Order: sequence, then structure tokens, then C-alpha cells
Amino acid sequence: MPNSYKIVDHVHDVIVVGAGGAGLRATLGMGAAGLRTACITKVFPTRSHTVAAQGGIGASLGNMQEDSWQWHMYDTVKGADWLGDQDAIEYMCREAVPSVYELEHFGVPFSRTEEGKIYQRPFGGHMRDYGKAPVERACAAADRTGHAILHTLYQQCLKHNAEFFVEYVAIDLISDDDGSIRGVMAWNLADGSIHRFLASQTVLATGGYGRSYFSCTSAHTCTGDGNAMAARVGLPLQDMEFVQFHPTGIYGAGCLITEGARGEGGYVTNSAGEAFMERYAPTAKDLASRDVVSRSMTVEIREGRGCGPNKDFIYLHLEHLGADVLNARLPGITETARIFAGVDATKEPIPILPTVHYNMGGVPTNYHGEVMRPTDGNPDTVCQGLMAIGEAACVSVHGANRLGTNSLLDLVVFGRAAALRAAQLVKPGQKVKEPKANTGEEAIARFDKLRNANGSESTAQIRLDMQRIMQNNAAVFRTQKVLEEGCQKINEIAQRFHSVKVADRSLIWNSDLVETLELDNLIVNSLATLYSAEARKESRGAHAHEDFPDRDDVNWMKHSLAWVDDASKVKLGYRPVHTYTLTDEVKYIAPQKRVY
Ligand code: FUM
Repeated sequence: MPNSYKIVDHVHDVIVVGAGGAGLRATLGMGAAGLRTACITKVFPTRSHTVAAQGGIGASLGNMQEDSWQWHMYDTVKGADWLGDQDAIEYMCREAVPSVYELEHFGVPFSRTEEGKIYQRPFGGHMRDYGKAPVERACAAADRTGHAILHTLYQQCLKHNAEFFVEYVAIDLISDDDGSIRGVMAWNLADGSIHRFLASQTVLATGGYGRSYFSCTSAHTCTGDGNAMAARVGLPLQDMEFVQFHPTGIYGAGCLITEGARGEGGYVTNSAGEAFMERYAPTAKDLASRDVVSRSMTVEIREGRGCGPNKDFIYLHLEHLGADVLNARLPGITETARIFAGVDATKEPIPILPTVHYNMGGVPTNYHGEVMRPTDGNPDTVCQGLMAIGEAACVSVHGANRLGTNSLLDLVVFGRAAALRAAQLVKPGQKVKEPKANTGEEAIARFDKLRNANGSESTAQIRLDMQRIMQNNAAVFRTQKVLEEGCQKINEIAQRFHSVKVADRSLIWNSDLVETLELDNLIVNSLATLYSAEARKESRGAHAHEDFPDRDDVNWMKHSLAWVDDASKVKLGYRPVHTYTLTDEVKYIAPQKRVY
């Protein structure tokens, strides 16, 4: 081991890596259960990407009209194009209602109805009475719901004495000889020290990997760090081919314009001024699920009906809603449109384009948040000592396509579930198993190698080339040829990474090194995405394969698993979708044709 590093040891009952909505909900629950809880985060907690979530959190409160968690479950299974695990979906939709009331009691400043109830708006794919008509299910704090939730959760964590390690970059998990996880190694940006965190449970809450792509709504921090750390200890990543494109990213800038804008009555048009969603989704129209709207927009552009001089975007109209509604319900996106599109949304339409927004895939878990180490014999074996929650996890409630508002919901429901499970598994102050003698050595060796990387290519150039490949070769529509080419090109990126040059050797606030560690992680995620996509010979949810345009439930209603090894080789496997429910209150929802 390079001996120039100062190592600081810590022992906790539980460690949470990441301080977005899932990480903070888990941290506060674990703290409240009396567990010595550490939360390690590479940015200050309230700067985590959850702060950017806009339109709402889904729960069938029924404040505006009749609703039920069974309808919510049906919509989620259908939205997921029957790739979601129905036990986990039942759990999430049932727990949605108490979880949102819990947030209200924690202090989340939700918007209100005239009678003082939590305000709810319609969102894509959320319907009443098993698909009959849109329902108002998104519980909203104007269009800053994630911001409101994240700040509230952070305050609650402080109340429960969680210990925060801020601007610490997690490097790698600590694994024992039997494959169980004992903690995590991290680098403190402020003083350059390396930290060895040991705990009985380690929770990955590191978010998605939107930054694998050139244009995304994700923060620069969304680099799939947890996914890559899991891959480096031999765990597979699940359903990585399913990457969500949000229909309304601002053209050119990629910033999110919430689906709540269409929930409030916004609609999209082509160059002829036609509200074309009527043709593609006669019932739900602009409130069809995201994959459907993104594909419809892409078809309009491909067939020459895009807007602007290059016919390469679509218009989103909000001007008919009037300034009062926009100011009260959608103030954030009105400002975003002004700053990033130069458009006054009260007077003119906003140019938009489908933009990468969410990763349905991630580290496979059960509905308690425990990470699965699927083997051919037993697909549901638990990896001891490791949990994953939020966008880093694939629990799998979103299957092949997530419904809007189910992300914030996933964060709080499964953050809470992980805390409940940890409280069952770990006694406060219990002795943490002694690690093996050379604990953390491999992580430091990898870190040291990257820090001293002295090749010929900059991190920024390799990253840009990777992002362009992902944007072109794993897009809204895919073909076999394009996917095969993508696999070959992403392999070349992985090889080029061996020639990376880190210009700055410093251990303190070294952003070049941070970005290089992040790129290493992004490449793992990109490899898993392209290989899983190339292998799936059907179209399902966000995976629209033009050579295999139909869903194939006989051969492909199964989760993909991708193991990415240290040499960037990808091995694929599969595990069954859970077609059972948790209770008899709902029955298995069998696959149907998916129309909106
Ligand atoms: O459109 C939005 O406000 C995004 C919400 C979501 O992704 O759940």
C-alpha cells in the first residue's frame, strides 16, 4: 500500500453514502432508532440532486378526487411495462400515503387546497379507476417539491444527531473474504486524508448516472458512484438498459421543465401548431407516460415536423394558463424558461426536447433495501452488510419506465424501509466485525494509481467522447447496428481511460482527481447500459428497439444483470421479475397491451 496517506478510522453502526432524499430519509430513521449513523456525502446535503426535483411526490391521498393505492399500483406496473417487481410496487404504493403524511408532519411546506389539504396535480401515467382518466396524485410544493423535502429531511437528521461527513468522496466499499460488506473508504477533500469507515451496515444512496450522457437534467454530481463501487466488489447491476428521457428538457440547455407543467394544462405542439399527442395517446394525451411522449416527440422531429429553423425541437405551451397560475403553481420553471431559453412562458411557448432524466436500473435490492447478490441457483440471496436505496438501487418499482413523482416517493419509502430493516438487524453500539488485516488497501491503491495517472489524454476529453457515444448509441430509439457500434465504442473509451492524465497531484480540493474518479465510475455504468441494451431483443418501456418493435413477454419479461469486471469486461445474466404480491389485498397484474 502506498504509505504516504494519512488514514483515519471510524466505527459506526450504519453508514449512509449519499445525502439526497433517500440517503437523508435513511439517515434520519437510523438516527431515530438510536443507531450511531454516519452520512458521507460529496456535496453539502442540501445541494444533492433531489433539490432539483420539481413537480411532486405521488401518493393516493385523494385530496382532489377519489383515488386509491391499488390504482396507483396498477399505473406503476403498467408504466413499468411489466418489468417491475409487484411485491415492491405494492409496498411502495401502499406506504406512499403514510410516508407523505409523515413528510407533512416533519415540516414539508406543501402547497395547499382551499380547504388546507395538500395540493395534488395530475402527472403522466397516473390515472383513476385502472387507466380510465388522469387523476390528481402528485403532492406538490409549487414546482420545488424536491427542494422542500430535502431541506426538511436534513433538519430532521440534525435533530436525530446523525454525524455528517461533508465533501468526502467515497472511493470503494470494504468487502470481507466471504463477500460481506464492512464499510467504505473515503477521501476528505478539505484536508486530503483518507478515511476507513467500518459499520455493520453500509447503505448506498448515491443517485443515478445521468452524466454518462451529453444532455441530461441531472446535476454534475450524478456519476453513478455507488453502482460502480458495487460492481467493483463483484455485484451485478440490474436493468441498466432502461434510461428515461424526460419529454421536456429545455432545448440546448437540458434543464428540466416539470411534467407538472402539463399536469397544470400545458401541451406540446409540432411545427404545424398541432397538439399531436392526441394522435399517439387519445385518452391521456400529454399526460401519457414519459417514454410514450418522448418517443412521439422524436417521431414528429424525425418526420420533419420539428419546430425552429432546423426543425429539431418541439414547443411546450403554457401561455394560455395565465400569469397567475404560472406564478402560483410553476414559478420555478417560469424562471428557468426565462434564464435558459430566453422565453417569457406567460407569453410564448418554450422550446423543448427529450432529455436524459433518470436511470431505472441500478444495484438490485429487495423491498427492505437489502442488496441482492443473484447467483444462477438463487436469484435472491442477500449480500450481507450492504443496502442500496433511491436511484442507485433497482428495487425494482420502476421496471422499464418510471412514472413521474414515483422517484421522490421511492426515495422516502425505501429510505424509511432501509432504516426499519437496519433497526432490526443492528443493535445500537454492537461490536462491528473486525475487518481483515489489509482492509482498504486495494481502494487506496486504485486511488493512488489514478492520482498519479500520467497518460496522454485529459479526463474532460475522454468524458466528452463517452457522453457523445451514450447520447448517440443509447438514445430514445435504438437499432441493433447502433447498439453493437455503441458496445465497441464504449470499450474503446474504457481502454482510453488507461491513458488518462491527472494534471494535479494535490490531495486537497483536487477537482481534476474527483472528476477522474467519477469518470472511472461513469464508464462502468455506461458499459453496463450499452451491453444490457444490445442484448435485449425486444421493445419495452424506455428501451425502444426498432428491429424488435414489440414487447416479448415470453422471452424477455426478466431483469437483466450486468457484471462489469476490473478489465471492463461485461458478463450478462438474468433474474425473474417478481410476479407475486405481498398481500392478498391485491392480485398479480398480468401483462396487457400498454395504451394510454
Ligand atoms: O417533471 C418532474 O417534475 C419530474 C418529476 C420526476 O421525475 O418524478
